[in-house]
Amino acid sequence: MSEDRWTAVDRYVEGLLAAEDEALAAARADSAAQGLPAIAVTAAQGRLLWLLARLARARHVLEIGTLGGYSAIWMARALPKGGRLVSLELDAHHADVARRNVARAGLDATVEIRVGAALDLLPPLAAEGREPFDFVFIDADKPNNPHYFTWAMKLARPGALIVVDNVVRDGAVADAASRDPNVLGSRAVLQTIARESRVRGTVIQTVGEKGYDGFAFAIVDGGPARSGGGR
Ligand code: SAH
Ligand code: DHB
Ligand code: MG
Repeated sequence: MSEDRWTAVDRYVEGLLAAEDEALAAARADSAAQGLPAIAVTAAQGRLLWLLARLARARHVLEIGTLGGYSAIWMARALPKGGRLVSLELDAHHADVARRNVARAGLDATVEIRVGAALDLLPPLAAEGREPFDFVFIDADKPNNPHYFTWAMKLARPGALIVVDNVVRDGAVADAASRDPNVLGSRAVLQTIARESRVRGTVIQTVGEKGYDGFAFAIVDGGPARSGGGR
């Protein structure tokens, strides 16, 4: 199986099920025109984030890593009236591009983009006494993934969903000898999920336009104790 075939399937699925409207297409095109790297989620993955936000009945979403706002637009569109998405972005230029893209999508009242290193923005966010998040999407610098995940657990309500992008890294996640800081970040976040009794999760490998990678999914436990599932 070649990457060409993975891409062909993405194109097919996206044409059918995740077609970009004008605002999403413009967000992608404008991000490229402004020199942002082409690393946003695919349209099919955007639809997945939309679907997960719906399943989580999310009203409050936290994103770490905005880029040009492409994934933020998909997730914000899943929210009910009055729903809010906060997205954290290190690069002020990325944030500017994202704010324009979000405004073009008519979502500027829904999406708030904050500029800074996420690890600097998370403590003040936690101190605001806002409603806990129902859904957290972690997609920024990979070495910090374990720290972002720990913050996500703190800021999320029981039953919330936490999704981490790019954890499989061409399969390198299974290499215990890897010294790649991004791989170490993946392994550390999965160790956190394994170790923390408050969460359970798994990894789903993906192929497609963006190659071979995968997502970690975790739920913050809050429900009654149950049997099975290992703990
Ligand atoms: N979620 C976006 C893609 C994010 S790409 C989408 O799918 O559309 C990763 C982003 O994380 C980049 O814009 C990068 O500037 C940002 N980033 C990198 N380090 C960061 C940090 N320490 N804090 C916050 N954002 C960071
Ligand atoms: C990169 C970052 C991402 O979030 C992604 O989905 C793909 C690539 C990167 O930094 O190269
Ligand atoms: Mg990513």
